[in-house]
This record gives sequence, structure tokens and C-alpha cells, in this order.
Amino acid sequence: MTEDFDVRLVEDVKSYTPDPQYRKNAWMGDYQKVYNEFLADPDAFWEKMAKELDWIKPWNKVKEWNYPYAKWFTGARLNVSANCLDRHVNNSRRNKVALIWKGEEGRERIFTYQKLLSQVARFANALKKIGVKKGDTVCIYMPLVPEQVIAMLACARIGAVHSVVFGGFGAAALNMRIKDADAKVVITADITIRRGKAIQLKAIVDEAIINAPTVENVIVLRRREPPVDLHEKELDFYEMMNGMPDVCPPEVMDAEDPFFILYTSGSTGKPKGIVHTCGGYMVGTYYTSKYIFDIKDNDTYWCTADPGWITGHSYIVYGPLAVGATVFITELTPDYPDAGSFWNLIEEQKITIFYTAPTAIRMFMKMGESWPDKYDLSSLRIIGSVGEPLNPEAFEWYYRVIGKSKTPILDTWWQTETGMHMITTMIGETMHPGFAGKPIPGIEADVVDKDGTSVKPGTGGLLVIKSPWPSMLRTVYKDDERYRKYWETIPGVYTVGDLAVKGKDGYIMILGRSDDIIIVAGHNIGTAEVESALVSHHAVAEAAVIGKPDVVKGNSIKAFVILRVGNLPSDRLKQDLLHHVRTTLGPIAMPHEIDFVDKLPKTRSGKIMRRVLKAKEMGMDPGDISTLEE
Ligand code: PRX
Repeated sequence: MTEDFDVRLVEDVKSYTPDPQYRKNAWMGDYQKVYNEFLADPDAFWEKMAKELDWIKPWNKVKEWNYPYAKWFTGARLNVSANCLDRHVNNSRRNKVALIWKGEEGRERIFTYQKLLSQVARFANALKKIGVKKGDTVCIYMPLVPEQVIAMLACARIGAVHSVVFGGFGAAALNMRIKDADAKVVITADITIRRGKAIQLKAIVDEAIINAPTVENVIVLRRREPPVDLHEKELDFYEMMNGMPDVCPPEVMDAEDPFFILYTSGSTGKPKGIVHTCGGYMVGTYYTSKYIFDIKDNDTYWCTADPGWITGHSYIVYGPLAVGATVFITELTPDYPDAGSFWNLIEEQKITIFYTAPTAIRMFMKMGESWPDKYDLSSLRIIGSVGEPLNPEAFEWYYRVIGKSKTPILDTWWQTETGMHMITTMIGETMHPGFAGKPIPGIEADVVDKDGTSVKPGTGGLLVIKSPWPSMLRTVYKDDERYRKYWETIPGVYTVGDLAVKGKDGYIMILGRSDDIIIVAGHNIGTAEVESALVSHHAVAEAAVIGKPDVVKGNSIKAFVILRVGNLPSDRLKQDLLHHVRTTLGPIAMPHEIDFVDKLPKTRSGKIMRRVLKAKEMGMDPGDISTLEE
């Protein structure tokens, strides 16, 4: 962890206050009033939220807090897919559009709630037929197509625990995740389509399952004509659904039964399998989709993430469907077929709520405002941001060019571990560029020093959450010690791993990670993961990786590599190393720069001092180097 976080606010803070109508019409209403209600009786607050959903059996207790372990809605029974589908089909939303998908060359697919339920039920029955049972793990490694959402909901239907792996990960990263989670089935597609090109996905799965003995079947969505051949153990997505009934009774799940595992980078080479459970996650994502995003029945909601990330789990699939929203998804990219692609989609689909990442916003800025200016964006009523700090320049641009200086910006701070939004500036509240906002009702957050003492307004420290919340992670799969570390680093509170500054009026500015995680274009990359990928190359003896500020991506990865004796530095070797990281970890983890060096700064106990490398790279003072080896 960074030792020095002596950060102070120097500049005056700008303010933008949306039209009072926003607050008046929002589900949330008056933030401060609701927050006070929560503080007065936290369990009553969450109980009220939970009661808006369908439960098969109600809870005995809202919360059982046995530090550092929390259980929520104990004794309750539910099924998340029933809340996302049947709840709507059984009432007035049966024929409402649940999902609109847009692909390349104008391809469009539309699913009503009824149609989505039928497809989910048929696929759930198909999974059951091949022996997938409650508690089994299913790995989903797919492109951004409706079948990915169907596969997730089908797992939820039968109580199988899904572990979705983003399609941009390479074979070694996928292999590690399949093995760690003991996946019984892998669901994939032959290809993913990016910018007019087909990228082979199944080939990566073929490699990733070679030494993964738990995998009994691979289900393949075959998109290409003629269809790829299927080998032993491999099944076709739609052939499996043929003849399957479109009714599948939802599995009765305990509120605390595991719901899904999602891997996120940690400070060691091994990613953490974050475990979420059914009841609390459902309540948290439902509550925030309704009261933070303010989703209403006539909204068309678009979150540009991939379901393979937590943002997609919580705010493409489970939260928005639980509130009965119309969700738009697309396989198109912001720069294809041209730089107007996303604005064109907003105009065409009349998107009302748009949720994206700062890295995308900075890319849009770079492409120029003439692109969004060509399109009618007047349908937008809320625009959101997630994944990394929304810097004031990006805020101003997003607000002015996309929001037309009136649409509130929801800069939502949260994590894979938190499952749901935690800090933001609620609809209608005054926004301060650079500041995410305040803890939402239901959440108690603070900025503290290393000892856990609350810092004075205007100063920086570590962001912590002071009490449990329903959608918090319950453990790290097979590694509970790593779970306890979140709550034991500073005893009594959940240490987030981010540096933050407390503003004068309770607003919180997030500065970035305080640990060895680099956020590159909104994706968490562990330095240790990239280092071990580099070291797995035959020419590399040692490697150290740092994050360097990048105007568009937030950070880029720079690697310092010591070669094994007998290998000489060359451009060709650099290319080879890049290719190696790309095929093992995936394109998202590729270094932007590689330097060959003879030595790396280390502590006397042999730990690489990345902080020193970074300071040197940036021409800054390396700070305390008393532990440096020499
Ligand atoms: O550093 C924070 C940053 O992303 C981290 C969590 O990453 P992940 O688990 O991949 O989840 C990303 C999507 C929820 C956090 O520890 N982060 C996320 N949102 C923000 C942010 N940093 C600043 N502002 C945000 N709005």
C-alpha cells in the first residue's frame, strides 16, 4: 500500500445544479431525507427495499453481522431469474421489450420479457439435461450477444453458479479461471465480431480446457456459416434447446446460496474469485437500478460495458431486468463503422439513460465533438460513468457535449466486491466535477488515515466502508483469508483499496488505487499478473510492471524486463513478449512499453519497489527509499 497519501484540495470546486424537476421526479426524492431514514434504522431501510421484490419465503432476520462475515435476509428463499423475468411476465410487462441487441450491418434482435423468459427456460432445461445441477459452476466466455444474457439467467434459473469471463481474456487467464472455479461446463461461441472482423473465441477455449479435467461439456454458439465442426464433449447452443419445454420452474435458492463468482485482479498474481450470494445481491442491484439510475418504465437504458464485468452483471443484466427495464446492448464499438457509431445508436434507439466509462469519454473527446453534434441526443435524461475517476476535463466535456449542459451525470463509484453502486451524486443533487459524490442511502463510507481515523475535510486518505451492505462479497472463492483482509487491514471497516479526498461538504473525490492494481481503460490489471505472464516467457528472468498516466486510457502499462543470460535485447524480442502477454492474459493486459534493464530496485527482503520505478519514470521524487537494497 502507498505509504504517503498526503493529498490536499487546492482548487476551488465548481458546482452544477440540475433543474429541480429532476429531484422532484426521481424515485429517490430528497437524498438527505432518505439518507437520514437509513441511518435511523438501517435494517428497516433494507427491509423496505427487499419487500419490493418477490420472495418464495420471507426472511427471519434482515441482517446477521458476525464481523467480518455478514448474512442478509437469513432464512429467505428466492430465485433471481424469477425476479428478473416471471415477476414482469406475470404482470403488465409481459409484452414489454426487455432486451434490444444491435450487431453489425444493421442486424437487430428484440426480446420481450415473455420471449426472454421462454428462451431462458429452454436453455435452463437444456443445461439440466446434460446434468448441470444447483451449486455446479458454469463458465461463460462469450461475445456481447443476447445468448450471453440468456446463459447467465439460465444458470440463475437452476441455481448453477456462473463465472463469466470477459471475452478479451487470453487462454492462460481463462484456464486459470476455469480451473479455480472447477467449472463443469464452458459456454462459448465460435467467434466474436469486432470492427467487421471475426475473432476466434472457441480456439481460445480449446486451449484453455486442455488441463482442466472438471470440464465435462463445452457449449458452442455457432454464428458462422458453415458451422464449425463440433468434437467430443462439444454441444451446439441451439440444438440443445430444440424440443426443450419453454417452462422451467425456478430453483428455490436460499438468500445466502452462492449466486456467482467473478474474478478480479488482486495484488498477487492470482486473481480473486469474488463470491456473491442470491438475496443480498438481488436487493442491492434492484435498489440501485431503481433509485440511483432512476429507471422508469418508459426508459431505454444502455450500459456500454460487457456482461463479463461486474458492471455488466449488475447494470446490464440483474439490476435493470429486476426493475423491468428495456435494456439495449450492442456488439458495435464506439469507433466502428465510424466515430459517430454510439451517437447514432442513441438517436436511433432514443436512449434515455446512458452509462459508460471515463476512458470511453476521453476517447470521444479525442475524436472530436463534431461526431456527437451530428446526431440528436435529446432523448438522454441521465448520463453515467464508472470504472475510474472521471477527471474534471472529461466531466465538463461529457456534461456540455453529450448532456447539453442539463443532463445530470451519475459518476458511480463501486467495485466487483461491492456488487452495487456505493458513492455517487444522486439525480438532482449539485455535482462537483472531479468528485464522485456522497455515499448512497444504505452505505456508510469515510476517508481515513492508516490507523482508521477519519481525516479532516480537504485532506486525503484511504476510502473505507464502515458497515456491511446486502450486495457485499461474502468470500473470495477458496481463499477466505483474502476476504478477511478487506475487513482486517484497518480493523472494523472494509478497506476498499482506493485513495480518496474528502471534500468540505462530504463529497468524495476518488484518486485511484492504493495497491498494485493498475486501471487501464477501466479494466483492473494486477501488476503481478502481467509480471508472471512476462516471466513465463523463456527469455525473461525478471519483470516489473508499473502504470503510467495516459490521457485516454487513464493508465498504460510499462514493463521493465531483465533477460535471462544468452538473450539479447531487440525489437523482435519486444514484439515476441507482447505477443506472449496477449495470448496468455489477453489484449487488455498488454504493456504499452517495454524497457530491457539490468537491475530492478528491490527492498532488502527482495520485493520489487515499483514505486521507485514509477517515480523515476515520471521524473519525481521516489520518497522514502530507506528500505532500498542498495
Ligand atoms: O479504483 C476504483 C475504480 O475501479 C475499482 C473497481 O474496479 P472493478 O472491481 O473492476 O469494478 C469496476 C466497475 C464497478 C475501484 O476500486 N473505480 C470504479 N468506479 C470508479 C472508480 N474510480 C473512480 N471513480 C469511479 N466512479
